[in-house]
Amino acid sequence: MSEPLSSGDLATKRVLLGLSGGIACYKAADLARELVKAGATVQVVMTPAATRFIGAVTMQALSGRPVIVDPWDDSAPNNMHHINLTREADVVLVAPASADFIAKLAQGLSDDLLSLTCLARPSGQPLLLAPAMNREMWAHPATQRNVAQVVADGATILGPAHGDQACGEVGDGRMLEADQLRDALIAHFQPKRLAGKRVLVTAGPTFEAIDPVRGITNLSSGKMGFAIARAAREAGAEVTLVAGPVHLATPYGVRRIDVRSAQQMHDAVLPRAARQDVFIATAAVADWRPANLSAHKIKKNGSKVAPTFELAENTDILAAVAALPDAPFCVGFAAESRDLLAHAREKLERKKLPLVVGNLGPATFGRDDNTLTLVDADGHRELPASDKLSLARELVREVAERLARRQR
Ligand code: CTP
Repeated sequence: MSEPLSSGDLATKRVLLGLSGGIACYKAADLARELVKAGATVQVVMTPAATRFIGAVTMQALSGRPVIVDPWDDSAPNNMHHINLTREADVVLVAPASADFIAKLAQGLSDDLLSLTCLARPSGQPLLLAPAMNREMWAHPATQRNVAQVVADGATILGPAHGDQACGEVGDGRMLEADQLRDALIAHFQPKRLAGKRVLVTAGPTFEAIDPVRGITNLSSGKMGFAIARAAREAGAEVTLVAGPVHLATPYGVRRIDVRSAQQMHDAVLPRAARQDVFIATAAVADWRPANLSAHKIKKNGSKVAPTFELAENTDILAAVAALPDAPFCVGFAAESRDLLAHAREKLERKKLPLVVGNLGPATFGRDDNTLTLVDADGHRELPASDKLSLARELVREVAERLARRQR
């Protein structure tokens, strides 16, 4: 699962959730639940084929509203479900969107309530489609043509994912998971302050090997960095996340590069850094590594003398990026146990950064909430204690404003 939601991310949002026929309908049950949990009002519309894969009763129970399937259903006083439903929605999300359903949309056909509803949307009402089909069906030129057409008509395609398929084959065509679709929908409603920008984020600890089974690391969980990568992506940026060894789900739409040591993190970051607009270094990079890596496990062999290790200094990745001639807007992190402001200011000056974010680590390592202090040449500002995703969004807002001022 991804980061916990900040409460009510979809509060006040009215989602028309459409299901067309496909085995991925089983995931739509979870999706309806996730959307409701995030605060959305969910109205489900199913095609007759979808009802063969999952019961309308299930979707009704999870959404808390009667499911509508039949355009001739006379429960609406004006008998115009296709008009009423779209006028009462902020967004239409079809998950799963079958090959047949996408083909219908591309042609403007409307022989069931869901396609009729999609066609009757007020202009500008967002339509999000989560394709789900066999890999050959997805790759078929007819499907690709139809997808290109619906995108040209303004729809947004979410996924599909690559992996095992219900038919036993492996490839592109799996519907995204419920939590990914929920996060994509949440992202849809976030302001696009970093549209067209590239953001590079480092996160997590590094692991500096002593021998094949031991190493030096730290307690950084990576949660703050992953939340920042997610928030930057939600804000419309193209995001690359260079992650040390952590077990966290990759935020939806973020490109992830896994590394282990500080040297690997450096090698992943430096060649990409000059192409970025923003670099946010949240990783707790080890300052030192064992100077000599033992090729074999170090044995005690009855010795009573503790081994000693010589350490070599790791390159400062953030300082190296900030010193590039075409340096992106660089944000450093300072996890301090005392004198936060003084230490953060010292880093700002020593590494020549426009912004340092201080927090009172290591008390916050691994927790879902945090308190941040933004320090720049003009002073400092506290972001009050909150969950890490809300803080990350606030930080992204600050960065976007500073970037805009810098480029003006
Ligand atoms: N950083 C980095 N590469 C390193 C070390 C640190 O990119 N080799 C980045 C971190 O990601 C963070 C900032 O620099 O953004 C932290 O600065 P640093 O002076 O290394 O902080 P600490 O090691 O935590 O502080 P100190 O050694 O002063 O206690």
